[in-house]
Amino acid sequence: MSNPDENASETVTDPQSAIDAAGEDRRETRPSDFTAGDTPDGIPFIGAGPGDPGLLTVTGRELCEQADLVVHAGSLVNSELLAAYCEDAKTVSSIGKDLEELIPMMRDAYEAGETVVRLHSGDPAIYGAALEQMDALEEEGVPTYFVPGVTSAFAASATLRTQLTLNGVANHVAFTRPQGETLSEAEDHVAEFVEMGDVTTCIYLGTHAVSETMDRLLADGRDPDTPVTVVYHASWPDEDVIEGTIETIGEKVEAAGYRASALVIIGEAVGDTGYDRSYLYDGWASRGETDGQSEDTESPQEADD
Ligand SMILES: C[S@@+](CC[C@H](N)C(=O)[O-])C[C@H]1O[C@@H](n2cnc3c(N)ncnc32)[C@H](O)[C@@H]1O
Repeated sequence: MSNPDENASETVTDPQSAIDAAGEDRRETRPSDFTAGDTPDGIPFIGAGPGDPGLLTVTGRELCEQADLVVHAGSLVNSELLAAYCEDAKTVSSIGKDLEELIPMMRDAYEAGETVVRLHSGDPAIYGAALEQMDALEEEGVPTYFVPGVTSAFAASATLRTQLTLNGVANHVAFTRPQGETLSEAEDHVAEFVEMGDVTTCIYLGTHAVSETMDRLLADGRDPDTPVTVVYHASWPDEDVIEGTIETIGEKVEAAGYRASALVIIGEAVGDTGYDRSYLYDGWASRGETDGQSEDTESPQEADD
């Protein structure tokens, strides 16, 4: 097996030009014969899940077990998962490495005949930077594909024993992040989602700024009693849940000392309110097939779940 740190050669393609090139004809060049869960040739970009190794998908686990080289997202991926499923592989953290280092490392190992796996935290489609690596690798002739994972919002809702969508309470879910170095004030939509009332707002990458985020919501006139729950390290052994409101949660999180690795969930779905019985389990089975159906009524199949 080659040593990826020592053997990484110069990248042939500038990663930025690969991203630019992928932009316009992305939909045309993406394979349409691929289904999530398939294991085609190439480097899989796998969602490692929120932390608990048991929440890695079966496909993800099998691919990790076959890997020679696993490039992972550092402390966001549980070391127990690496120990359990990647024991035969060389593991390399991507923390502190830029595209110019990561791309040749993975390409060279792949071209040397090694089985290479890229592990991202949660699901790679949510606040990950998988696509730019995939586009750069593909530009260099290395095929890539996604293997989905469990995003941390889903682990947090399981911890809280709630649903992010809840009949009569929350009809929508927003995955968002607060303004900061990456997001400008104009791009921050937390206040708009909260104002809608029937949205469960899941804030990623905002643990360090809970007080500031809540202060902005108060300044924007949101109800101070709106429920807010912060789930730190959902599914990890040191998981913690802090409950409060827009008015109280900032102080509580600061007292706990969490600055990263937590999900902030705003909305009635994490509060103590009741909810409505679903239409699905409220007599569907005993109704005639056409009874009560109109064009804007869910079919039994659509309502199922
Ligand atoms: C770079 S984003 C990656 C998100 C990841 N792709 C996902 O689907 O969960 C990192 C943020 O995800 C959230 N996060 C990741 N793992 C978490 C966990 N186990 N519990 C709570 N929040 C988590 C935190 O908000 C953290 O700041």
